[in-house]
Parts: sequence; C-alpha cells; structure tokens
Amino acid sequence: MGDLKNRRVVLAQRPEGLVTEDDFGHDEVDVADLASGEVLVQTEYIGIDATVRTWLSKAEGYIPPVEIGEVVRSSGIGRVVASRSERVREGALVSTLTGWQEYAVVSDDPMLTTPLAEGIDPLAALGVFGANGLTAYVGLTEIGRVAQGETVVVSAAAGATGSIAVQIAKILGCRVIGITGTDEKAAWLIDGLGIDGVINHRTDDVPAQLRALCPQRVDVFFDNTGGPILDAVLGRLADHARVVLCGAISSYNDLFKPPGPANYLNLIARRARMEGFISWDSWGRYADIMDTLGEWVADGRLEHRSHIFEGLPSAPRALNAMFLGENIGKIVVRV
Ligand SMILES: NC(=O)c1ccc[n+]([C@@H]2O[C@H](COP(=O)([O-])OP(=O)(O)OC[C@H]3O[C@@H](n4cnc5c(N)ncnc54)[C@H](OP(=O)(O)O)[C@@H]3O)[C@@H](O)[C@H]2O)c1
Repeated sequence: MGDLKNRRVVLAQRPEGLVTEDDFGHDEVDVADLASGEVLVQTEYIGIDATVRTWLSKAEGYIPPVEIGEVVRSSGIGRVVASRSERVREGALVSTLTGWQEYAVVSDDPMLTTPLAEGIDPLAALGVFGANGLTAYVGLTEIGRVAQGETVVVSAAAGATGSIAVQIAKILGCRVIGITGTDEKAAWLIDGLGIDGVINHRTDDVPAQLRALCPQRVDVFFDNTGGPILDAVLGRLADHARVVLCGAISSYNDLFKPPGPANYLNLIARRARMEGFISWDSWGRYADIMDTLGEWVADGRLEHRSHIFEGLPSAPRALNAMFLGENIGKIVVRV
C-alpha cells in the first residue's frame, strides 16, 4: 500500500500473571496490499476485553491463541481507508478485529467486519452496542432466562459486561445485587444505576452478605469472575437456579487451572443448572438485540461508561487495568 507504515504491538513471549512490557514487541512494517474482499482499516479505538488475556496463553480456548510474533488480537473501531470489497466501502466506520495496530487488513466477512451507522458513538459501539451488550443480554435472557421478581446476582458488576447486565436485569423487573471491588464502584451501582444492593468482594464477608442481601436466595447468577466468588454464590442458590458462566477473570492470569468450586454439590440439592456460553454464537440475533438495547439507551434506562487509555503503547497497561480492577465500564485505547 504505497509508503504507508503500520505501527504494531506483537506478542514477544507468553505472559505469566499480569502482562509486562517484555511480553510485547513494538514494530513498524509496510501495510500489506489488499486482496479481493479485503479492506484496510485505520484503527481509531481498540476494545480491551478480558478474553484478550486468555488468547495470549497457550491453553486451548474457544478460538486459537495468538502466536508469538503475531499482532495481539482485539476488537476495535476504525475507518476504512481503502477497499477491495463490494460490501464495505472506503470511508465507512467499521467494527472489526483490528488488533493492537494502527492499520488492519481485514476480510469484509459480515461475521468479522460490521459497518456502523454514521454518527454512532464509537465508544458505545465497542461496549453496549458491541460484545458487552450482546453478552449481557444473551447471558441473562437466553442462558439465565431471568423472570420478573427474581433475585439476580452479577459479579464484576461495574465492569463493561457486568454494568450492562445489572441494568438489563433491573429493566426486566428483577431484584439485583452486584459484586464489585471498590466503594466508588459500589456507589455508582447503587446511586447511579439503581441496583438493590452491593457486596464488596475485597472488604466484605461475601457469603454473609449474600445471606443478608438475598433472603430468598439467588435465582440467577451472572458470573464474570469464577473463583471464590462463584463458590460463595453456589452456596446461596435458590431451587431451580441458573448459573450463567460468562467468564472467570480471577483465573485468566494463572498458569494452572484453579480447583473446582466446593459448593458445586448445591447444584444437585437445589436442582440448579450451570451453563457456559460464548456470545458470538448469537451473532445472528445481533441486529434485533441492538434494537432493544438502543431503545433502552435512548430512553435513558441503560447507561454506559468508558475508561479511556491514550495511545497504542498504553494497550498492555490497559489490559492489566482490568485485572487490577481499575476500570468502571469499558476499557478502550484511543489510538
Ligand atoms: N462469554 C462471553 O461471550 C463473554 C463475552 C465478553 C466478556 N466475557 C467475560 O466477561 C467478564 C468481564 O469481562 P469484561 O471485558 O467486561 O471486563 P470488565 O468487567 O470490564 O473488567 C474486569 C473486572 O473484573 C474484576 N476482577 C478482576 N480480577 C478479579 C478477581 N480476581 N476477582 C474478582 N473480580 C475481579 C474487576 O472489577 P472489581 O473491581 O469489581 O473486582 C475488573 O474491573 C470476563 O470474565 C470475560 O471473559 C465473556
């Protein structure tokens, strides 16, 4: 592509624990020529998702890991600056897998590259109208099958996915308890988002607070963290409860698999169900779900926040911020 240079962040070695600068290389390469059906996207925002950390490990996941020397894979929003596609035209703003780089050559496959409505807030497109909104909606309604009046508990409740999930559960008429890690996040969840109770997993006795705040026990647990929090909520399930396994961020930095939750036997006693899901599987329903979320955003019932890091080199720090619990809402890097 002429003289165009691409600054990239590539995986230099597999991280152990939190990522370090040594885990990444920063280079500059020529932008590749486009094949038919490809577009060149100039990255504007990178979405920092917890799952990115799982892709840096060798362990088999739901898609293959990032290989050493490859650009770190991630979602992003950017402008199409050249196109050899009939479907995605030059000038379009798109959501795609940009990776941690300034320019991405991507396929115009509709499963990968979605043109966005002109004027859309790119931060919303990465969060509430992106994977986080889809995940929260599908997890609660299809996997959790929440019903009005039920008690719903959400872990990592002030994060990108959790903060959307707690609000959807409220909109659907549930009693909602969030689990989070700081008083500032707890205050936002109660005063800003209007949920019914919060447990601080760093300072509270979680099982005792679950007993206090969920007198009718827990009908649906939307779990983003796994680990001791999952175990505590399993001990407080209602009959026929649904445990929605969205993620397990407490273990993503671990080299070895964590021990299973001791309270899983309660699934038997309570005739409960625990089910994992990957929101990409519901991509076919994306447009309908976004219409619903769009109505809730427009009428002020669904709020979304972003936590912005500046510049491509900040991407590793932005990823760690998630594990250190620094964020409220969606972490993005403005490139
Ligand atoms: N299944 C799917 O299709 C799908 C799609 C998207 C995301 N996910 C999952 O959803 C979860 C949330 O992802 P996200 O991108 O929205 O991140 P996020 O919630 O914005 O950020 C992660 C939050 O997790 C909490 N946390 C970090 N380490 C923790 C620990 N050891 N114990 C308890 N809490 C911890 C922190 O909040 P506190 O300060 O509150 O502790 C942190 O802010 C992840 O597990 C991710 O893998 C799944």
